[in-house]
Amino acid sequence: MALRTIRVVGDPVLTKKCREVKTLTPHLRQLIDDMFETMYHANGVGLAAPQVGILKRIVVIDVTGQDPIAMINPVIVEKDGSQTGEEGCLSLPGKSGVVTRPSHVIVECLNRDMEKVRIEGTELLARCMCHEIDHLDGHMYTEYVEGDLHDVQYEEEEQ
Ligand code: NI
Repeated sequence: MALRTIRVVGDPVLTKKCREVKTLTPHLRQLIDDMFETMYHANGVGLAAPQVGILKRIVVIDVTGQDPIAMINPVIVEKDGSQTGEEGCLSLPGKSGVVTRPSHVIVECLNRDMEKVRIEGTELLARCMCHEIDHLDGHMYTEYVEGDLHDVQYEEEEQ
């Protein structure tokens, strides 16, 4: 596995629409492994392929640090409820803002075996799935932020 460079706002790759994955080649399997490693290294809970410069519909998420989920060609098929809270993005380091998202979503996607699966998410997982899937169509949370972006207060890493 290898760390990939996370693209930051201003990089045009973050505004592009990604292509569907037809075949999970060894290259793309490596990409998924690298995306997880890159996300964990950056202390993120989600990462989309365009954030590492690859215009493919692939997302990785792990909101607990113990539940890695890779989503290929994810589509939100149901959403309801609402949650309003802080959101940030590895492509806009040091910033966060308030965004309202559905509180419950169901996503259909392919897993790493290219099997069709449905993944249900509430709370942070629902927020994260919406955020990452937006990246696949070139959208950032900053488009929906309520009020101003603010600087993240980093917590001490001890304990
Ligand atoms: Ni993001």
